[in-house]
Amino acid sequence: MLGVVGSAAGGVEALRTGLVEPAIDRGWQVAVTLTPTAGQWLRLTGEAERLEEATGLPVRYEPRLPGDARPHPQVDCYVVAPASANTVAKLAMGLMDNQALTQVGEAIGTLSLPVVVFPRVNAAHARHPAWEHHIEALRSGGVRVVDEPDVWPLYEPREAPAGRDLPWDAVLDAVEASAK
Ligand SMILES: Cc1cc2nc3c(=O)[nH]c(=O)nc-3n(C[C@H](O)[C@H](O)[C@H](O)COP(=O)(O)O)c2cc1C
Repeated sequence: MLGVVGSAAGGVEALRTGLVEPAIDRGWQVAVTLTPTAGQWLRLTGEAERLEEATGLPVRYEPRLPGDARPHPQVDCYVVAPASANTVAKLAMGLMDNQALTQVGEAIGTLSLPVVVFPRVNAAHARHPAWEHHIEALRSGGVRVVDEPDVWPLYEPREAPAGRDLPWDAVLDAVEASAK
């Protein structure tokens, strides 16, 4: 069971076709959780419903109420893609103020539960003085951060080539390598 977590960054609209359906094709069962903003984006377009049809599970974007059953089964690996600069920073600092962060934050501290994060950021995000510390903190917690410059070259804000796809294959390869 692969826990796919999407945040409000460019390319999240292709989460189903880029990551979820290819993962299912590779034999994974998939449970999707979105940050509240990503949830709002994907519900507006009907994509959240299509993700539910593809996975056979509800898409989570808010915490359950105490006493409610957990809507997703236990997962064997988490992948956060795309991870906004905001979600990366919160994960690195251990903040868990939404369902997506709660799940992944706990997973980072869970022994033997692999976590892969693809930061979907630009050069300005990466130049923030806290950025390197965030990435180091995640790596020191065993997170596989997909940030190789040949996989995701960083451009200045509004200067990236239009319509570039997220590196979904590299993200899925990192999942499979981590989950071995
Ligand atoms: C159309 C649009 C595209 C965005 N793309 C990105 C992006 O690619 N990377 C990023 O870090 N933030 C991006 N943002 C900003 C985030 O959505 C914003 O920081 C938000 O608070 C992130 O919330 P979340 O991490 O809880 O999903 C974008 C915002 C908008 C409106």
